[in-house]
Amino acid sequence: MPTAGNRKAGATPFYAHIVGWGMAVPETVMTNDDLATFVDTNDDWIRSRTGIRERHIASERESTATLGLKAAQAALECADILPIELDLVIVATSTPENIFPSTASLIQDRLGATRAGAFDLSAACSGFVYGVNMASQAIRTGSIQTALVIGAETMSRVMNWQDRNTCVLFGDGAGAVVLRAGEDEGGVLSAVLRSDGGGADLLGIPTIGSVDTLGMLDNGHTMHKMHMNGSEVFKFATRVIGESILQAVDLAGITMNELRLIVPHQANERIIQAAARHLKIDPTLFVTNLDRYGNTSAASIPIALCEAVQTGRVKMGEHLAFVGFGGGLTWASMIVKWSAPQSVDQTLLKRQRRQFSYTLARWRAALRRISRRINDFFGALNPARRRLARLRRKIDAIDTI
Ligand code: ACO
Repeated sequence: MPTAGNRKAGATPFYAHIVGWGMAVPETVMTNDDLATFVDTNDDWIRSRTGIRERHIASERESTATLGLKAAQAALECADILPIELDLVIVATSTPENIFPSTASLIQDRLGATRAGAFDLSAACSGFVYGVNMASQAIRTGSIQTALVIGAETMSRVMNWQDRNTCVLFGDGAGAVVLRAGEDEGGVLSAVLRSDGGGADLLGIPTIGSVDTLGMLDNGHTMHKMHMNGSEVFKFATRVIGESILQAVDLAGITMNELRLIVPHQANERIIQAAARHLKIDPTLFVTNLDRYGNTSAASIPIALCEAVQTGRVKMGEHLAFVGFGGGLTWASMIVKWSAPQSVDQTLLKRQRRQFSYTLARWRAALRRISRRINDFFGALNPARRRLARLRRKIDAIDTI
């Protein structure tokens, strides 16, 4: 990753533009009626209280990393850039593959983004906006040129499927954007990131951690399953959405009248309606697709953004807002001046090089696994070990395509 020192003093300021976007959801759809077959609920309650009709659920072969990878590949395709051009990969998630290695590192490897740094970001449903802000700040300082920010979740894996208060709300999916440095004014204009850890017990997923490993977890929650105080989170969300959008609009130096679209975290249709009332704006300014996906946590904003762009709701030069809220408690708003054309002419050569990069990444991972196994097998045999070490160094050196 290039360092901040690469930037020339007095150089033209960089803006961080969103130049690519992509999404991925599992094939399997679970309707409200499907849910009603195993938990005490019904389609009418879920639709009227939340607006959700159905959600996508990951199969056994799918995970946060596989969904995130697909969304990332779609975003790279859309931006027509190569994995090797990426300087940074951030995955915002509450359902990572592991505590470490990060899901971002797994995706970085599977893309063949061999020149990128990678890390996961934990800010629950606000995570995507936090991640875009981190990446855009790195771009604006000149420290990096190109970043991939992914919001990816498999919420179905942390649901208590007997708890009707939570299991009807969530779904699985991933969305991603590519950010790139540019000298034209636009892209990410402002961001407001906030947290109130005083509300930590209102929603969460207790998992292995510093408290649990000392045997101190005794708050009635189930390990690895999500819990939520819905009505308190509802009140919190309706309060912070309007407030933080107004702050971000102010910071961006624009007025509410200039906002053409708001892409909110997709938690509940009634929360969005309440925010529209608070801001005294037309609710149709908000993008909603939670009827088809439910709450996909950190993935919900990039998925909604993707669909908004694909259906022509986002136009060049227009201002839009992203607003997220969730566990922590955390919340975040951001103003973006959209600067990407509807579609980018893709070059055949770059498309082929991207495919080659993915294939090479798979082969490199397989070769590394094999060489480690052989190494273990021949443990004590020093000459064989040296030859294998040389082979491994050669594999590691394949980072250009
Ligand atoms: N089906 C049928 N009845 C239900 C269900 C269900 N799935 N869930 C709850 N009920 C019942 C309750 O038991 C209660 O019954 P009672 O009156 O007999 O006790 C009644 O419906 C009303 O329950 P409430 O909890 O008051 O329902 P409410 O209208 O508040 O809706 C909801 C609940 C949908 C959870 C809402 O509070 C909400 O959306 N909260 C915000 C969630 C959110 O925004 N999360 C975002 C962050 S997520 C993250 O960060 C990962």
